[in-house]
Amino acid sequence: MSKSIKIAVVGSGYVGLVAAVCFAELGHQVICVDNDQRKVDALRGGDTLIHEEHLPELLARHGNKGVVFTTDLAEATAQAAAIFIAVGTPQSETGDADLSYVEAVASEIARHVDSYKVIVEKSTVPVYTNEWIRRVIERNGVSREMFDVVSNPEFLREGTAVEDFLHPDRIVVGADSERAAKVLGDIYSPLTEGTYYKTAEPIPGICTEDAPAPILFTSTKSAEIIKHASNAFLAVKISFINAVSNLCEAADANVEQVSRGIGLDSRIGPKFLRPGIGYGGSCFPKDVAAFRSVAEQMGVDFNLLTEVERINATQKKRFLAKVRSALWTLRGKRLAVLGLAFKGETDDIRESPAIDLCEMLLGEGCQLVAYDPAAIERAKLELPPSAQMQYADSVEGAAKDADALLVLTDWAEFKSIDLEMLQRTLRYPIVIDGRNMFDPKTMSEAGFTYLSVGRPVANPAREVVKA
Ligand code: UDX
Repeated sequence: MSKSIKIAVVGSGYVGLVAAVCFAELGHQVICVDNDQRKVDALRGGDTLIHEEHLPELLARHGNKGVVFTTDLAEATAQAAAIFIAVGTPQSETGDADLSYVEAVASEIARHVDSYKVIVEKSTVPVYTNEWIRRVIERNGVSREMFDVVSNPEFLREGTAVEDFLHPDRIVVGADSERAAKVLGDIYSPLTEGTYYKTAEPIPGICTEDAPAPILFTSTKSAEIIKHASNAFLAVKISFINAVSNLCEAADANVEQVSRGIGLDSRIGPKFLRPGIGYGGSCFPKDVAAFRSVAEQMGVDFNLLTEVERINATQKKRFLAKVRSALWTLRGKRLAVLGLAFKGETDDIRESPAIDLCEMLLGEGCQLVAYDPAAIERAKLELPPSAQMQYADSVEGAAKDADALLVLTDWAEFKSIDLEMLQRTLRYPIVIDGRNMFDPKTMSEAGFTYLSVGRPVANPAREVVKA
């Protein structure tokens, strides 16, 4: 049986909350701290506040028992052996990560350190942040032997965050002291020794079998770079396949076949080679910009990342051009929009390319009727309802009398849309799919003019000018 460790997690956003309930699931005693009393009250009442699979079940299982919620950072610091900082690191105007929340939490923690503590960076931060946290804590009067700062980046994806936490590809611990590395090693031992997979009480839908998770111990600076480099590399992969998809469109080739063909090379791998309307979300855009900015500040040429960002932005413009190519003029056109979240199975709209495209289409004078299975309420804050921007509570409601249907988010439920219903409901059977959700042949046979990304246009009904 692994040791139960007292852990504080500061910040109950995506990363903090998932880490807190999952640490409780691993048998630790967790205090999750947030300075927003309303959030703390909601979490105590069992409301996760975010749409994330399996999180409600885990919160019901451990809430107010293995994981307690509080605004009291002093008490949490006093009790915990390890304090995970999981507060936001938003992008500042220069592209750098804004680390003021991290600094504020570090200096607050420092005021309450009364015994040896391991302070863990869980937020995505640029290299050297651990040094700054150390300095801030020392400046606040804590002597060096009373604490260590460790970097333990999180690689979870929204929508599969719980599964990713409990079945990680790897756990990275950047620690410059053996004492601190051991604390982190103990915290993760149920996963790295595989005992969790043998003893876990299953949560429906979560796999409880797996081989022990690999753990990699590095220097703190290497761990900080691993996090940024991982996200930046994935963004490179996406921009690369998006550029290839544009070439496929020009050459009348099929990017799906090309993607499969290159992905079968084990050195490349099949994942993250889906073309679309560009990456979004709370991580990739921010992390690519921050990594580029860190490199710049250190005098390192990383223009590759500038190009990755440029391709990502172009992808949205190309989609807009595709809509225009199918509809000729845009002013006054009524368009059904499927999907507002930055990707499927989440209600998150941060840096969502779907929202950007809606703004671009509204700017062209289109009238939009949007449906998303989970993100409508959040979207209304960005795109307030009006005569031009309307919301529907079903695919059918959005499609009614629309001049065309646009697919902007890869929600799994869109794959099983009733095509006959679409034919009946749309004014014209035109589908422009930014996520390659449908098979062009099926769409063609069903009588649609169907434009997707990097694949030949299925166009039985009308002539479409190429984008
Ligand atoms: C990402 C990383 O995957 C995760 O490891 C890190 O901790 C946080 O950032 P997330 O933002 O939840 O996770 O989403 P992810 O599934 O990685 O997708 C990011 C964006 O890339 C989405 O907009 C998605 O639609 C897009 N994407 C992804 C593609 O366009 N093509 C792909 O092949 C994969």
